[in-house]
Amino acid sequence: MTKTVTPAELIHAAAQARLGAVAPYSQFQVGAALLTAAGEILGGANVESASYGLTCCAERVALFGALTKGRRDFTAVAVVARAPGGPMPCGACRQLLAEYAPQAKVYVADSDDLACVREFTVAGLLPEAFVLVP
Ligand code: THU
Repeated sequence: MTKTVTPAELIHAAAQARLGAVAPYSQFQVGAALLTAAGEILGGANVESASYGLTCCAERVALFGALTKGRRDFTAVAVVARAPGGPMPCGACRQLLAEYAPQAKVYVADSDDLACVREFTVAGLLPEAFVLVP
């Protein structure tokens, strides 16, 4: 059965996922939560490496986890961090979202102000995205 999930609920799921962040170098904890068309929520948080370039953003941790569980058809993603106005997904995450969640809404919120949610779309954040199979 399809469950209705509000943007506020998805933001709260991202805030919960953020508690799992492993960010000893930047101390910048990010949480992300993906929503499927069926109403399932799949979270992730950033994981950093001493070899900084190996760090993986929260959005990609959530996306890779969801994809490797066989989930597809994402309708939204929420991202939460201690950032004024909420954290905007980096370019690399926008590319992955454009490939695997092209129809998704993107909700962002500051972890100190979860009630203030800003809404974007993946398509709007990465227009004319590179895809191999259009
Ligand atoms: N980070 C994310 O998790 N998502 C983004 O969209 C941008 C940045 C993480 C990576 C790193 O652990 C920390 O934020 C500081 O860049």
